[in-house]
Amino acid sequence: MKVAVLGAAGGIGQALSLLLKTQLPAGSELSLYDVAPVVPGVAVDLSHIPTDVKVKGFGKDDLSDALQGCDIVLIPAGVPRKPGMDRSDLFNINAGIVKNLVEAIADNCPKACIGIITNPVNTTVAIAAETLKAKGVYDKNKLFGVTTLDVIRAETFVAEAKGLNPANVHVPVIGGHSGTTILPLLSQVEGVSFSEDEVSQLTHRIQNAGTEVVEAKAGGGSATLSMGQAAARFCLSLVAAMKGDNVVEYTYVETNSDDATFFAHPVRLGKNGVEEILSYGDLSDFEQKAKDDMLDGLRNDIKIGVEFVAG
Ligand SMILES: NC(=O)c1ccc[n+]([C@@H]2O[C@H](COP(=O)([O-])OP(=O)(O)OC[C@H]3O[C@@H](n4cnc5c(N)ncnc54)[C@H](O)[C@@H]3O)[C@@H](O)[C@H]2O)c1
Repeated sequence: MKVAVLGAAGGIGQALSLLLKTQLPAGSELSLYDVAPVVPGVAVDLSHIPTDVKVKGFGKDDLSDALQGCDIVLIPAGVPRKPGMDRSDLFNINAGIVKNLVEAIADNCPKACIGIITNPVNTTVAIAAETLKAKGVYDKNKLFGVTTLDVIRAETFVAEAKGLNPANVHVPVIGGHSGTTILPLLSQVEGVSFSEDEVSQLTHRIQNAGTEVVEAKAGGGSATLSMGQAAARFCLSLVAAMKGDNVVEYTYVETNSDDATFFAHPVRLGKNGVEEILSYGDLSDFEQKAKDDMLDGLRNDIKIGVEFVAG
C-alpha cells in the first residue's frame, strides 16, 4: 500500500504522517510532499522510527515523483483558520491549491483514492470532482471528504456528557463539514437517551468544536492533532477495506440522493473505494428539521466549487 500526504509538513500533515508511519501495515510506503522546505527533514525524522513503513520526502518541484504508484492520496495542504474566520474564508487560497494538487493526481495516479481534508471541505471536494472530470478520470467511488473529525468529536462529547468510555460510543454524523451542515444523529446512539436540551447543546457543541480549537489556539491555527488522528483512522479504514475487510466509515461522498450532490453518509468501503453508500436511517423531528434547514447552504457550497473549476 502506498499512501501520499500532500501538505505533509503542516500541523495536520506531520501528526497524520507520524500515525501512518507507526500504524500502516508492514511493507507500506509513505510519500510526503509539501512546498515548505522542511519536508525532507520531516521524512528523515520519521524514517528513524523502527517500523516496516518506508518514508520518503518530496519538495515543491517533485510532486509527480511523490505521486507515482500511490493507492491513497490524502490532502491536508492549505491554510488553516484564525479566530473570527469561517471555513469559507479559506476558499480563495485553498481552492487553487486543491485544484493544482488534484490535477497532478489525475496525471500521475488517476486510480488512487483521494481523501480531501483541506477546508472548506463542502466546496473543495466539489472542486476535486470537477477537476478530475475535466481530466476525464473522475471515479465517484474514489473521492472522499474526510469528515471523521466530526465523528470522533461527537463520540468524545457524548461519552463525556454521559460518563461513558468513548471507545464504546458510536455517533453517526451526516451532512457536510461546516457549522450547521454538520449533523450528528444523536437519536441513533445506541443505549443512550438525551433530553431535548442535551440534544440541542451537544449538537451545537459538535457543530462548533472546530471553533473551540481555533479560539483556544488564539491565532496559532486550527485542529491538527485530533485531525491527524481522524485522518489516520479514515486512511487505515480505507487500507483495511482495500485489503478485503468489511469497514464502514461516515464520509462526504457523491450520492444519488435528493439531499445534495455530496453528503456525508455511512459508507461501506471496499477494494475500489466506495463499495456501497448506506442509508443514514430514520431521523428524529429535530434532526429532520436541522437537515431541511441546512440543505440550501450545503448545495450552495457545492455550487461554488463547481463554478470555481468552470471558471
Ligand atoms: N477536514 C477537517 O476536518 C479539517 C480539520 C482541521 C483543519 N482542516 C484544514 O486542513 C488544512 C491544513 O491545516 P493545518 O493546520 O495542517 O495547516 P498548516 O498551515 O499547519 O499546514 C498546511 C501545510 O500545507 C502546505 N502547503 C501549502 N500549499 C501547498 C501546496 N500547494 N502543496 C503542498 N503543500 C502545501 C504548507 O506548506 C503547510 O505545511 C486547512 O485547510 C484546514 O482548514 C480540515
